[in-house]
Amino acid sequence: MGRLDISRRHLLGVAAATGALSLARGVAPVLAQALERTPGEILGPFYPVLRPADPGADLTTLAGRPGRAAGQLIHVMGRVLSVEGQPVRNARVELWQANTHGRYSHPSDTNPAPLDPNFNGFAVQTTDTEGRYRFKTIKPGAYPATPTWMRPPHLHFEVTGRVNRVITQMYFPGESLNDKDLLLQNIRANRQGVIAKVLPPTRDLEPESLIVVWDVVLDKG
Ligand SMILES: [Fe+2]
Repeated sequence: MGRLDISRRHLLGVAAATGALSLARGVAPVLAQALERTPGEILGPFYPVLRPADPGADLTTLAGRPGRAAGQLIHVMGRVLSVEGQPVRNARVELWQANTHGRYSHPSDTNPAPLDPNFNGFAVQTTDTEGRYRFKTIKPGAYPATPTWMRPPHLHFEVTGRVNRVITQMYFPGESLNDKDLLLQNIRANRQGVIAKVLPPTRDLEPESLIVVWDVVLDKG
């Protein structure tokens, strides 16, 4: 079995897990297991004020620049769902993040880490009919929130459905800084809901890239 098969099986497993809930709801509503809502977090001080003209799904290049953003290439993808497992179509998914050095393209960021001329760190997408979203970006670096507190790598999200909105942060699994992060550890309900799964790339993607799978669960959608 090749890597492609394994990766496909991983992705199919994720899809099957969410699809099974929809099926279960139709056949036996009493047995349907509700999903847990994605917990919210603070907007943070670096919500973008300087936005690219065309904030599409690919954050790794900027219009008019030949270079690519520095850092580990990642493809972040998942679905926006209601607690009943129904896809939330046309949800607005905003992503903002630090660069590979842990620096935001934001005038309030006093971190002396370098800016990346090929990276702005903001994008927005609308989910499709299956509730899916997808971004190509780089894994952000850790950065100091205070002299004694390093934030682990994370992506900021604002997800707006028809009824509900969540402002939150997505984390990478297995990061040692996760265990010490005041914001992540302060989440009491469904902390695992903000930690993504990381998979190897499928053959159609860059061999050095990673797939990051993360679903967002809104209450009604
Ligand atoms: Fe942040």
